Amino acid sequence: MPGTAGSRGNGVPVDRYVASHASYARAGRSLARGVSSAMKATQAPVPITVSRGAGSRIWDVDGNEYVDFALSFGPMLLGQSPDVVKDAVRGQLDRGIGFGAGNQHEAPLAELLCEVVPSAELVIFSNTGTEAVQAALRVARAATRRSRVVKFRGHYHGWLDSMHVAVPGLPGDGPGTAGQDPLAARQVTICPWNDTRALAAVLADDVAAVIMEPLNINGGCFAPEPGYLEEVRRLTREAGALLIFDEVITGFRVALGGAQELFGVVPDLTVLGKALGSGFPISAVCGSRDVMSVVATGTVAHMGNFNGSPLAAAAGLAGVSHLREHREEVYPRLESAMKVIAGAFERANSEHGLPVRFNHTVGAGFGFVAERPVRGHGDRLLSDAQAYGRFAARLLDKGVFVPARGLWYVSTEHSAEDLARAAEAVLAVAAECTDMSGDDL
Ligand SMILES: Cc1ncc(COP(=O)(O)O)c(C=O)c1O
Repeated sequence: MPGTAGSRGNGVPVDRYVASHASYARAGRSLARGVSSAMKATQAPVPITVSRGAGSRIWDVDGNEYVDFALSFGPMLLGQSPDVVKDAVRGQLDRGIGFGAGNQHEAPLAELLCEVVPSAELVIFSNTGTEAVQAALRVARAATRRSRVVKFRGHYHGWLDSMHVAVPGLPGDGPGTAGQDPLAARQVTICPWNDTRALAAVLADDVAAVIMEPLNINGGCFAPEPGYLEEVRRLTREAGALLIFDEVITGFRVALGGAQELFGVVPDLTVLGKALGSGFPISAVCGSRDVMSVVATGTVAHMGNFNGSPLAAAAGLAGVSHLREHREEVYPRLESAMKVIAGAFERANSEHGLPVRFNHTVGAGFGFVAERPVRGHGDRLLSDAQAYGRFAARLLDKGVFVPARGLWYVSTEHSAEDLARAAEAVLAVAAECTDMSGDDL
C-alpha cells in the first residue's frame, strides 16, 4: 500500500512514511529496484529515503528521526558527519579532487596502517571491500604461484563471482545471486568454519590462500572458538598457504588493529574497508613486506582510477588518526554499548517470551528471531529471517533504524540516551507482540 494513509495491519499508520514511499516509487521508475544495493531494498515497510544525518541520528524525508544502528552498514564508526573528517575533506576539496598522480594523504595513511594493524608492512589502496578482496587474492596467488582458495561457509567477502558463494543466510554452497559465472568459483573450496579438522582435510599443496572473517560478523556475529585462529595460522603455515583476514567489518571496529589485535593472531594479508574511510570509499590490502613485494616489484599490477583518491585518503587519515588518539575510551565504550542492546534482547526473551536472540562483539551485533541460540551458519538457517525483518520494521516505527537482516552497529557518537531508546524500543516491540513467529510480528 505505498503512499496510502491508514494502517498496515499491525496498528502502525503508514502515513509515517508517505514521503519515503513517494521517493521510492519515483526512484523505481528509473533506478532499478529503487535503491542502490540489494541490502537496502529489504527494509520494511519501505526503504526510507534519508535526508540528513548528524552524530548517531538520521532523519528521513518525512521528518522522522531515528537512532542509526545501520551506520551505512558499518562505515560510520565515528557517526554521521564527524567534524574531524569533514575538516580534512574540506581542506582537500579546495586543493583538487583527483589527480592522475600521488597525493599527500596516501603515504601518511599507509604509515598509520603499518603502525596500527599488526600484519601491515606494505599497503595498497582500493575503493571498496570487494575490490580489495580481489586484489588480496591476486597478491596471494602471485606470491605463492598457486591458485586454489579456501573460503568458509557463511562468510561474506563482497560480490565477486568467485567469492559470492556459500553466502550467509542461504543454504547450499552455490552462487549468491543469478548472473554469476558458474566457473568463477571452480578454484574455491568451501569449508565449515571453526572446524580445524575440516580445514586440515582441504589444505593441499595447490592452496594459495585461506580467506575468512576472523570474527564472522556477516554470518551472525560468531566468534572463533578458543584456539581456532591459532590452529588455522599453524595449519596454513605448514601447508605453505597464505592466511587472509577479511577485516572489512572488524578493522578499526572491534579494536584499532582489528580482530587480529583482539585475538593476537597475525595473518599474512589483511583486507580493510568500511570504517577506514569514515563513509568515504576507500579500502586497503596490507601484508608482510615479503608477500606484498609482488606489488612493490610490479609483478602484480594494482589497477584503479580512484585508488587512494585525495578525498577518501584525507578522510581515512583523519578518521584513523582520531581513533588512534582516542582508542582508550573508544573501544570499551563500543563494547559496553553492544551489551546494552544484548541486555534488551535478553529481557525481551525472558520477560515477554519473544524468541529473539542477539550475538555481539565490540561495536557490532546480530539479532535473530530463533527458538534456540544461534551459534553458527547452520543455526542461522533455522532462524526466521522474515520475522526478524518485521521486527526491524517495528523498531523503525519506534525511531530505531537497523538493517532488516540482523546486523547492529554502534558508533562513537551513540550516547547512553540513544542506547536506552533502542533498548526501550526492543522491549516495547516485545510487549506488543504476543506471537512473534506468527503474522502478529
Ligand atoms: C567482511 C566483508 N568483506 C567484504 C565486503 C565487501 O565490501 P564492499 O561492500 O565495500 O564491496 C563486505 C561488505 O559488507 C564485508 O562485510
